[in-house]
Amino acid sequence: MNDFVYSYPTKVYFGKGAAEKALKTELAAAGKTILLAYGGGSIKHNGIYDEIVSLLKEMGKTVVDFSGIMPNPTYAKVQEGAALARAKQVDYILAVGGGSVIDCCKIVAAQAKTTKDLWELEFTNRQLPSDAIGLGAVVTASGTGAEMNGGAVITHEEKKMKTGMLAFAPRFAVLDPAYTLSVPQMQVLSGAFDTLSHAMETYFGSSDADNVSDDVALAVMRNTVVNMRRLLADINDIQARGNLMWDSAMAENGILKVGRLTDFQAHQIEHQLGAYTDCNHGQGLAVIHPAYYRHILKDAQAKFTRFGKEVFGVDTAEKGLNALTDFIKECGLPTKLTELTSKVEITPELLHQVADTCNVIKSNPRELSREEIYEILYECM
Ligand code: NZQ
Ligand code: ZN
Repeated sequence: MNDFVYSYPTKVYFGKGAAEKALKTELAAAGKTILLAYGGGSIKHNGIYDEIVSLLKEMGKTVVDFSGIMPNPTYAKVQEGAALARAKQVDYILAVGGGSVIDCCKIVAAQAKTTKDLWELEFTNRQLPSDAIGLGAVVTASGTGAEMNGGAVITHEEKKMKTGMLAFAPRFAVLDPAYTLSVPQMQVLSGAFDTLSHAMETYFGSSDADNVSDDVALAVMRNTVVNMRRLLADINDIQARGNLMWDSAMAENGILKVGRLTDFQAHQIEHQLGAYTDCNHGQGLAVIHPAYYRHILKDAQAKFTRFGKEVFGVDTAEKGLNALTDFIKECGLPTKLTELTSKVEITPELLHQVADTCNVIKSNPRELSREEIYEILYECM
């Protein structure tokens, strides 16, 4: 274990009726004006919008809508939200959606409090925001775990960069599995694959043996696979959705990362692929992981063997990787880059651009060269 300081900022309300409990407890003393942030409209179709608005109105709040937050939220959308929050003198932000809405709002909350440009502040001046409007997250699509951490993955379209920014974690999170029932099957599975990826990326990052974080990560992986299989049999299995919702939060709330190095190289490649193609995050990871892991299999043989045994019940490192690859196919997730987008043509030139601009992780199992990242991407075509 490396040295660490651990504390937890997000209060979680899980289960049926969680939104009512959370809003009444957390927003009572929060000020009158609430920025209600959401995506492209799913919450208007499934009734969540009406439910939240009527709860807020009942509490005497003034609701300001901030809508249209897109998957892979852009820095321009962040600025739009921050300008609105300032203009309406918002007291609190309620992000209702998946990782994209929650991430966008983390940066809106901080950007609204300063005239400094937060992208410049973080990436040029190497400083982080010091203040933010209070933020609560109501999760409607699980997978990213964004509701329980202070990171936000934002796409800067002009700079062609999709990357993690740091701000503040939501003060509270609502996890009601029923809110996810209207999520389309492919999004449910790609979100759950993202969860699996977070636990794998954390686990493979350290060679420190007998680490309790590894044991917990393997349990989260096993549970994610079991519940994804339950959803393949019955996509409306509410218990499995709930199990996955908590797996999602567990995988990315920092608990698996305590005292250890992490990898997250597959994520860095996917994020930059997203900057160039706007592809779905979990689906991009499903394509990249097997190819990336073929490259590092020999560098983390013991860890792959344990992964194979404990997650898929097979007895060698190689079989563990094959089982992961087969599981991706079993879920019907994409296996080729060309399946990820119809907007952009996947060419060797584009893959070079992605490889040349993505972040390279310097920790375990092994630092990749940009040429090798290109090879990995090329193998995914
Ligand atoms: O926009 P609406 O209409 O709401 O539709 C969304 C969107 O199209 C839909 N959806 C959400 N809840 C729904 C629903 N459809 C029907 N019923 C519901 N209840 O789902 C679609 C995808 O939503 P999105 O928020 O983009 O998905 P996800 O939760 O997978 O978030 C992906 C974003 O999170 C980032 C990703 O890079 C990507 O930008 N990540 C954030 C992380 C973090 N902050 O910790 C970690 C991850 O590694 C990840 O990078
Ligand atoms: Zn992810």
